[in-house]
Amino acid sequence: MSHIPVLLHEALNGLCIKQDRVYLDCTFGRGGHSRAILASVGEFGRLIGLDRDPSAVSVGLKLAQEDPRFRMIHTAFSKLEEALDNLGIERVDGILMDLGVSSPQLEEANRGFSFQADGPLDMRMDPTTGESAAEWVARADTKEIAHVLWVFGEERFSRRIARAIVEARSTKPIQTTAQLGKIISDAQPIKDHNKHPATRTFQAIRLYINGELTEVEQGLNAAINRLDIGGRLAVISFHSLEDRLVKRALRDASRPPRGDPRMPLPDNLAKSKLRLIGKAIKAGPGELQMNPRARSAVLRVAERTEAA
Ligand SMILES: C[S@@+](CC[C@H](N)C(=O)[O-])C[C@H]1O[C@@H](n2cnc3c(N)ncnc32)[C@H](O)[C@@H]1O
Repeated sequence: MSHIPVLLHEALNGLCIKQDRVYLDCTFGRGGHSRAILASVGEFGRLIGLDRDPSAVSVGLKLAQEDPRFRMIHTAFSKLEEALDNLGIERVDGILMDLGVSSPQLEEANRGFSFQADGPLDMRMDPTTGESAAEWVARADTKEIAHVLWVFGEERFSRRIARAIVEARSTKPIQTTAQLGKIISDAQPIKDHNKHPATRTFQAIRLYINGELTEVEQGLNAAINRLDIGGRLAVISFHSLEDRLVKRALRDASRPPRGDPRMPLPDNLAKSKLRLIGKAIKAGPGELQMNPRARSAVLRVAERTEAA
């Protein structure tokens, strides 16, 4: 199953790739962006790919066998500093984050991400670790479920859906995506005709199970730490919660830190760490026609400055 890379040319332009430098793709997926980066880095350039999903990693390992300039690491990008330390790399010249899930993750029913394809209720990007969605749905109380649906899905019927889940599981364990999808649909008093009734709840559970927003926060900090001066960070996000976080993190790092006026910071610490490059970029009509997944994509780019 393939994945069409989103905002490919825009992300590559944003990264401003230079020959023979070192790049990091934090979200390898099926390697669409990685292959394009490799095509631009020159004979002595290097690219490190990260992904927390073992099936993405196996695609990346094959690419590494074909191309000695590429290395694939199985890790969450919040741990990118550890991954670079293990490779003896202190700084990189560009970092890409193409957030969220890949098409194969969504489309393979056995990954349990989608209410449109019936499968085991899992939703873990890395099924080798952590709690599955079915395990969480079986143990969380009504209050916790409602909280997750509200915070990560902005679901206005969060309490009602949470109560329906807890009631349904008292008669039969909720183990499949179709089962959960139906419970959610039945619990919604008003249907939004533009969206499947389970969209927000599935998004919320996925974000929660994978700790996605915390990953983005920690990953961005780590990325900013490891970018060399003049290096670019390009981040593609797919929904407003994610984009808000990215926007805030890049904006904060592009402002000088506020020190205590009685104790001014030394010059190198008083400067901002990033410089924003241009405005947020969205997919054009040509790309949208070819790839509807690009509809909600937003690309933001920033450059590392000299600050410590
Ligand atoms: C949108 S896809 C990337 C697609 C890729 N750019 C391509 O062209 O094929 C997102 C990928 O990032 C991975 N991912 C998401 N969050 C991650 C995290 N915190 N750490 C590592 N990988 C993550 C997912 O497993 C998925 O494979």
